[in-house]
Amino acid sequence: MNRRYAFRCLMGMVSSSPLLAMQNGDDDVLGPVNVHEFEEVAKKKLHKLAYDFIAGGVEDEMTLEANRAAYKHWYLVPRVMTDVSTVDLSTEVFGIKLPAPILVAPTGGKNLVLPNAENIVARACAKTKTLFCTGAGAERAVEDFDNVHWWSNTTGQATKTAAVSYAKRIEDRGGKAITVTVDNQYQSNRDRNNRNRFDYGYMGTGVPKAGVNQPPRNPARAAMWQPHTPNLTWDYIDWVRGAVNLPVILKGVLAPEDAELAVSRGASGIVVSNHGGRQLDGVIATIDALPDVIQATGGKIPVLMDGGIRRGTDILKALGLGAKAVLVGRAPLWGLGAFGQPGVERVLELLAAELKLAMALAGKANLAQIDRKLVRRIG
Ligand SMILES: Cc1cc2nc3c(=O)[nH]c(=O)nc-3n(C[C@H](O)[C@H](O)[C@H](O)COP(=O)(O)O)c2cc1C
Repeated sequence: MNRRYAFRCLMGMVSSSPLLAMQNGDDDVLGPVNVHEFEEVAKKKLHKLAYDFIAGGVEDEMTLEANRAAYKHWYLVPRVMTDVSTVDLSTEVFGIKLPAPILVAPTGGKNLVLPNAENIVARACAKTKTLFCTGAGAERAVEDFDNVHWWSNTTGQATKTAAVSYAKRIEDRGGKAITVTVDNQYQSNRDRNNRNRFDYGYMGTGVPKAGVNQPPRNPARAAMWQPHTPNLTWDYIDWVRGAVNLPVILKGVLAPEDAELAVSRGASGIVVSNHGGRQLDGVIATIDALPDVIQATGGKIPVLMDGGIRRGTDILKALGLGAKAVLVGRAPLWGLGAFGQPGVERVLELLAAELKLAMALAGKANLAQIDRKLVRRIG
C-alpha cells in the first residue's frame, strides 16, 4: 500500500478517482484500483470482529458466495458501431435525479469502522450526489441531512401507531422514502460473529479494547431467536402509505409471488435483496432472482437490486436484467475502512467510472439503451 496515496486520500487531497488518476498518468497512485483492493486495505486496518461482522454472511455463507459467483454465469452481449463518444449514467429514482444508478445500501454497525461513521458516509454521499440509505434506525445519528437525498431503513414496527409515528418522523426530517427490510424478522445466526463472541452492542459503540477478552458465551443463546419485527405483514404498507406522502420500498423480496403481492398491496418499489447473504443461508443469489421478479412486476413498480456488487460490469448486468438501479452495501464500507470519507467517495466514483466504461464498450450511450438482450445466461 502506497502510504503517500493513503495520506493524500485521508487529507482529501486526491481529487480524482484512482482509476482516473491512473488514466492521467499519475504514477503516485499505487493504491487500490478496484473494490476488492479497498477491502484488502480495510481488512488490515479493522479489528477482526469488525471486519468479520462486515465481510461475513450467515452460517455456511452459501448465499454470500452465490451472490458473487452468480455474476459469472451472466454474460454481456455488446453492440458495436454505436456512438459512445459520450456516455450518460444519469437517472431518476422516485423523483430524485441521480448522476448514476448506484445507491448506498443501508448498513448498520458503521461505528465498528469509525466513530460517527453514519455522518461520514452521509457526507461522502452528499459530495458524490449519491442517494444514501441510512442503516436501520441510524437516521437518528445523522446530524446534517441538508445536502444529501436519503431514505430511511427499518425492520418495521409491531403496531400501526408505532409505524405511523416512525413514518411521520422520517417525513418531518426530510427522508425521501422508507425502505422496509422484510427479510430480517429475526437476528440471523452468523457463525463468524458467534465465534468472535461478537456483541451486537458494539454496533453502536465500536469494538471496545476489552471486547476480544470477554468470557465466552453460549453462541446459540447469544445469537438465536432475537426478534426484530416477526409480525410484519402486508398491512404495514397500508399503515405507512396512509400516514405519509413517501414511497414505501420493500427490501428483501426474492420470490416472484411476493413481487406480485407487493404490486397489488401498494408497495412503491422493491429491492431484490438477500441482505448480502446475511439472513437466511441457502437463498438464491440476487442476480439470479432478478429476472423472475422483473417479470412478475411487469414494469408496474421500480425494481432495484443489491448483493455482491463489486464491479461496474456487475451493475451493467443488473441493469440489463431490468433493475432500475443498484445498492452497494460492503463496497462503501471497504472505502470507509480503508481511508475514511475520501475512501467512500473513491469507491462510489470508481464504481461509476467502471460502469461508464463498461457501458461504452457494450455500445450503450445511456441507461435507456440498456435492454434485456444485453445479458445472457450461460450454463
Ligand atoms: C455490515 C452490514 C450491515 C447491514 N445492515 C443492514 C441494515 O441495517 N438494514 C438492511 O436492510 N440491510 C443491511 N445490510 C444489507 C445491505 O443493505 C445490503 O443488502 C447488502 O450489503 C448488499 O450486498 P453487498 O454487501 O454484497 O453489496 C447490511 C449489510 C452489511 C454488510
